Amino acid sequence: MVLTFSEYVQQQTLHINGQLTAFLPKAVPGAERLNQAMAYSLLQGGKRVRPLLAYASAETLGGPTAATAAAACALEAIHAYSLIHDDLPAMDNDDLRRGQPTCHRAFDEATAILAGDALQTLAFETLLQAADVTPSLTLELLRELAGAAGASGMVAGQAIDLYAVNQSIGLDVLETMHSHKTGALIEAAVVMGALSTGQANPTQIMALRNYARAIGLAFQVQDDILDVVGDTVTLGKQQGADVQLNKPTYVTLLGLAEAQALAKSLYAQAITALEGFDDKALRLRELAAYIVERKY
Ligand code: IPE
Ligand code: IPE
Ligand code: MG
Ligand code: MG
Ligand code: MG
Repeated sequence: MVLTFSEYVQQQTLHINGQLTAFLPKAVPGAERLNQAMAYSLLQGGKRVRPLLAYASAETLGGPTAATAAAACALEAIHAYSLIHDDLPAMDNDDLRRGQPTCHRAFDEATAILAGDALQTLAFETLLQAADVTPSLTLELLRELAGAAGASGMVAGQAIDLYAVNQSIGLDVLETMHSHKTGALIEAAVVMGALSTGQANPTQIMALRNYARAIGLAFQVQDDILDVVGDTVTLGKQQGADVQLNKPTYVTLLGLAEAQALAKSLYAQAITALEGFDDKALRLRELAAYIVERKY
């Protein structure tokens, strides 16, 4: 029997959360507060979109392996670190994340900075230490994640985001910003999931990259839409945060209706990119719909 999408997500999320709990390191005596902050930001809530994408992408090819599990944990650790730093007073200065105080509010700013640093390193350690993964696959996964996380990927997008405050930018810059700050890690999730099977050919990887680029951008378009039409309780974070900071967003540049139309057209692009795949791409197709329809 085929699980419904929501049953599938529930089952996968349980599995992913179990793995995330297991891979957190024990605290060095005296550093317990650091590890508590890491656990707080990694384990409390979160939709697990990137691990879900990695698993769904692996299912599209040969099926998940030990490398898929390591990739999923590594991706979520990078994501959790990016959120901790994104919320800091020097960046978005947010008090609420996933319905709870942000890491620097629950702990303190220095601990939040360190928890982000440590989660980032932990991501790479997790890939390096994964059992039953060949050295060449480990290298491929590390290359993909490092490229997506750093100054060619997410961090570049965050920098553009910060420098764009109070600036009027064009759609091209906005797209560059979004495809880096959010799209890069989403693309890495899909590609790492495919690589982790050991069975992906270059044509399939290219098709999956096209899928991921479309949903990665759609994800941030929807994030900008929710910043305007969502409510703080459902979102679990402050509504209107980026607008208040006077950051350019898809809604401020295009207006709400056009931003919604863009999300729809990116969804269609993602589905087209998967044309060469059979029914095993069902979950990737469903995740694309979920990304543009999500309410938080
Ligand atoms: C929020 O990401 C930040 C963006 C990259 C837009 P998510 O919406 O995936 O956050 P969680 O992990 O589910 O809380
Ligand atoms: C965050 O983007 C992107 C990353 C953390 C890389 P936002 O600043 O729009 O995310 P939210 O709205 O705070 O979740
Ligand atoms: Mg931000
Ligand atoms: Mg933010
Ligand atoms: Mg946002």
